[in-house]
Amino acid sequence: MTKDLQAVPAIELRGIGKRFPGVIANHDIDITITSGTIHALVGENGAGKSTLMKILYGVQKPDSGTIAVNGHQVSLSSPSDAIAIGVGMVFQHFMLADNFTVLENVVLGAEKIAGIGDDARNRIRQISDDYGFDLDPDDLVEDLGVGERQRVEILKVLYRGAKIIILDEPTAVLVPQEVDALFDNLRELKDQGHTLIFISHKLDEVLSVADDITVIRKGTTVASVKPAEVNARQLAELMVGSVLPSPSTEGSTVTDKVLLEVIDLELDDATGRPELVDIDFAIHAGEILGIAGVEGNGQTELVETIIGMRRQARGTIMLAGEEISEWSTRRRRETGVGYIPEDRHRHGLLLDAPLWENRILGHQTRPPSVKGPFLNPPGAKADTGRIVSAYDVRTPGITTTARALSGGNQQKFIVGREMSSDPILLIASHPTRGVDVGAQAAIWGHIKRARKAGLAVLLISADLDELIGLSDTIKVILRGKLVATFDPQSVTPQQLGSAMTGADAISEERS
Ligand SMILES: Nc1ncnc2c1ncn2[C@@H]1O[C@H](COP(=O)(O)OP(=O)(O)O)[C@@H](O)[C@H]1O
Ligand SMILES: [Mg+2]
Repeated sequence: MTKDLQAVPAIELRGIGKRFPGVIANHDIDITITSGTIHALVGENGAGKSTLMKILYGVQKPDSGTIAVNGHQVSLSSPSDAIAIGVGMVFQHFMLADNFTVLENVVLGAEKIAGIGDDARNRIRQISDDYGFDLDPDDLVEDLGVGERQRVEILKVLYRGAKIIILDEPTAVLVPQEVDALFDNLRELKDQGHTLIFISHKLDEVLSVADDITVIRKGTTVASVKPAEVNARQLAELMVGSVLPSPSTEGSTVTDKVLLEVIDLELDDATGRPELVDIDFAIHAGEILGIAGVEGNGQTELVETIIGMRRQARGTIMLAGEEISEWSTRRRRETGVGYIPEDRHRHGLLLDAPLWENRILGHQTRPPSVKGPFLNPPGAKADTGRIVSAYDVRTPGITTTARALSGGNQQKFIVGREMSSDPILLIASHPTRGVDVGAQAAIWGHIKRARKAGLAVLLISADLDELIGLSDTIKVILRGKLVATFDPQSVTPQQLGSAMTGADAISEERS
């Protein structure tokens, strides 16, 4: 058989190393990327994926190692070197000028290749048609949605002649329908002979779209696999380097001491329409009560009423035997309610404040945040350091802003903060939504430890495996009512699903 061009890899990286002050971002990286394939690069946050791709795009210079593109060894000292040999990159954060058109954005910086004008306009139309991008060269970028902006970025690198295209976490900013559309675009690009390198830490996505997968852990390549050879769990374990704990509960720690009791609770909206109807339940020390439901069936309202952000129309809330129904949120929290909010960006964190100030947030009346009547920055700082290490929050330091942390690390920080004030009730609202697998496992561990320590835990989640794995009891909420109760040991996701949609009327009387 003759050696055809296809046999020459699009990219060969050998022994790539890169240090930053105090950090080894990459070491001994070896990757071979076959021409005309979609190659996924997966790894936890901070694993070194972006650094590696910046090296391949000429943005960063490696300290060691070699790069070969289409069989030729290259030395890249800037993105224009990479573009000249057909390598383009779409960054995690788009770099488009909002008040310019698609045409202007695409041509911006590439005037040497083609002057702005009808030629450029026609070529953009052509590329858009070829790959199904559905973009008009004369549309203003500020009028485009996120998915469309991303296609402009891809079009921009195609316009510059890229045959090898790197996309850094392209799906992080997209909703599911947009992800599907992007994958269609990627497959189309591949069918027309392009090579795609796609960074992600969403494993289902990677398994659905990639031809090959390289796993990077702590700066180095640890595995190279095909999607057919692994499942999401195995891939996750390769990423984190250990067997992941499943959420499954160990032996029961449920006691007969009731910590939270909700009696005949009803909540109305501003027009008097009922939002919560006849809610009754109790959570004991050492018990996790899971609430399953299709989003928007009263979960948020239930949590907000228990925490005191909304005031019930009728009914009683008891915390450790004391009625708290009329208490302020602050007083409830001071008495022992920890809260992991559903939307950590709106309710859990001040994104632009340093971590140590976020330590104080919601805890501004108690040590170590205060000393006597005064705020106590040194106390808050010391305790932030403790949380960072005890909860494995990966951050350069306690003065780093919350925004600079990955979602998983933000969430680990919130869990650490909430657990630090010795709550008796922990309300966890979608605690692992949008976080990577390593952080998810860590958060499950913390919730299990809270249960073991004798807290009552109210867990709201859309992840049925998480609910089944962690809860001692699961209740289903539908249109503001608790309609069914299940034992997680015996319930199936299908049964939960039917109760959640009301398809399973028989379950109504189970409890
Ligand atoms: N320009 C830089 N200066 C200093 N440290 C950096 C720089 N870029 C990345 N790092 C560090 O290198 C490590 C790998 O980062 P990165 O390549 O961005 O990881 P990933 O993309 O896998 O999340 C991290 O510890 C990060 O903080
Ligand atoms: Mg990255």
